[in-house]
Amino acid sequence: MNKQCPPFAGLIAHHPGPCPVRGHGDEFHIATSVQGLPATEYFKVSGIRHCAEQSGGLCSFWMGEQLALYQMDNRALFNDEDLAPSTDANHELFGGFLGSLHISDPLRSQKRRAVEHVLGSQRFIDSIKDDIRRLAAVFLHQCPRTPMCMEKLTLLWVSQVDSYLPGILDCTIKSLDQYLQDDQFRDVVSGFFEQASKVISHDDRLALKQHEALKPFIKDLLLTNFDAIEQAPLTNLILGHFALWALPFTRKNIENLSTERALEIGTIIIATYDTTALSLLWSLAYIETSAHVKREVLLAASDSCTQAPNVIDLAVMEALRLGGSNPTALWRRTLKPCEIEHAGQRVLVPEDTQLWLDRWQANRDPHIFTQPEAFDVTHILALQKKDDTAHALCTSLLARNRYDINSFSMLNTRRNPRKCPGRLFSVNIQGLLLRELYGRFEVSSEGIDLSLRRHCAMPKPAQPGVLTLRPKHCGDQSDG
Ligand code: HEM
Repeated sequence: MNKQCPPFAGLIAHHPGPCPVRGHGDEFHIATSVQGLPATEYFKVSGIRHCAEQSGGLCSFWMGEQLALYQMDNRALFNDEDLAPSTDANHELFGGFLGSLHISDPLRSQKRRAVEHVLGSQRFIDSIKDDIRRLAAVFLHQCPRTPMCMEKLTLLWVSQVDSYLPGILDCTIKSLDQYLQDDQFRDVVSGFFEQASKVISHDDRLALKQHEALKPFIKDLLLTNFDAIEQAPLTNLILGHFALWALPFTRKNIENLSTERALEIGTIIIATYDTTALSLLWSLAYIETSAHVKREVLLAASDSCTQAPNVIDLAVMEALRLGGSNPTALWRRTLKPCEIEHAGQRVLVPEDTQLWLDRWQANRDPHIFTQPEAFDVTHILALQKKDDTAHALCTSLLARNRYDINSFSMLNTRRNPRKCPGRLFSVNIQGLLLRELYGRFEVSSEGIDLSLRRHCAMPKPAQPGVLTLRPKHCGDQSDG
């Protein structure tokens, strides 16, 4: 294609970028991988976002040799089958993980079911709610009464609760929070999603080098916790994966586990706590920096508020809109020419085009959210449609066919068949942990900076701040 001519002349605006030959390719790399800007900020400072804003939400640009389309709203423009798998670019890191399989791959549906029939089932989640609250309280009562780093707190809290919840991971002999504090494994385990995100959000192929590093951790985790996992309820995700592979759960089979399978189950295990922990960090950070919402949260956590939807769940959803735990902008690739509709016209997008969704910006769409940058739970209430019951508003918003907020998809595709199967669990557990926290403790915090951290592909607050807890009632420690 001739780079001097706009690729979609008269249909989609084009941003030429600083270099007539490589477009934005080199600048993007320098800005994200060297200077550490989040991808969404590159799109802003480079002028790509402004160009799209002027042109109904889309614009094209060259990312080096590759034609790219930038999108800044949450419309579903493509069919999933026309796109390469979501984690195609970093599949080496994820082994047999379903995100790296084409949507038509017959193995995908079984793999997805192995997670979705547990974490996507409201009935199952309801059955473990008391356990979640009990385990949340156990952790909080063990916490020191001195200021704690909020990022570390949320990570250890979620990983400990997930380890002990019956029928999820059942790593009760050496729990994940212990691994996260273990010198041998700490770096590889806590850095895994960051590496993966660098490949896909910063287009940084060097990050792929890490791919074998997870295997020794997974083997150690499964062998050490063998007796507990072997006796776990059948919903256990690890047992579910061994069943999927038609492999008896034995020590010998764990010893001989292929890299492909070790990375697959490793991805699932880390996804279970790591994504929720980061999301919870945003929820806490936003609640703590918003006096008005915090007051309502305290009221709701005291059980004297029976209003539906509960403000704690709304706050979790609103924090997912503004923060969340997938990179600020992500891309997938077209496998064949695809026709899309834009500004009332049909446009043919060629094969091998990078499709970038700036979800950070799309979740701040001023056409949808009245004060896009503000943490305001009425934004979530305003998304309520005729058929949504107030009680189940958050669940409705998480449905596959809802595109109002993107935090659980790479791109929004029609019918969103890849939308995260852990989303219902993740949102529910955050609400329950926050209820325990604000119901039982006086919470104070300082030093939170909500702007985006530099040199980080996952979206994190620049300063997570510190949290101090004081029990509300003396003697309340006994149920911990
Ligand atoms: C706030 C928490 C979470 C966020 C923000 C999140 C985000 C995402 C995103 C953006 C995707 C990509 C979807 C796509 O390909 O378009 C995804 C997929 C996936 N997530 Fe999550 N996730 C979260 C929690 C979880 C949990 C708790 C699990 C538990 C195992 C999980 C397991 C998965 C799996 C298995 C996929 C692949 C789905 C597929 O390809 O069909 N996630 N998630």
